[in-house]
Amino acid sequence: MFARYDSRIMSRDGWTRLLPVSDFPVGRACFVASGDHELAVFHLSDPDRFIVTQNSCPHAGGNLAAGEMNGACVTCPWHQWEFNLDTGRCTLSEGVTLLRYECRIESGDLYVRLPSG
Ligand code: FES
Repeated sequence: MFARYDSRIMSRDGWTRLLPVSDFPVGRACFVASGDHELAVFHLSDPDRFIVTQNSCPHAGGNLAAGEMNGACVTCPWHQWEFNLDTGRCTLSEGVTLLRYECRIESGDLYVRLPSG
């Protein structure tokens, strides 16, 4: 599934609130734009386990939020490179890694720590 959300930035202590956890379907990925950052939010399981990565595939810029999820892996829709979301590593090309962002849940909302600048 691909969904576009535009997060209204609310930074506090380096954390940015994205959206309510309930907006992210379990087992799906969603695209979230937050300021200059384009993110893929993967809702891996219930109870809530999330992984947030860069949305742009490091191979050639494919839209990872539109990729197919298989457990804790996602396959890029452009050239089918697979990434392990737990490590960020590409399973087909050693040394290629996704940027992963620390995330947490607070009061039912998903927060992410994004680099500044
Ligand atoms: S752009 Fe993702 S595998 Fe090529």
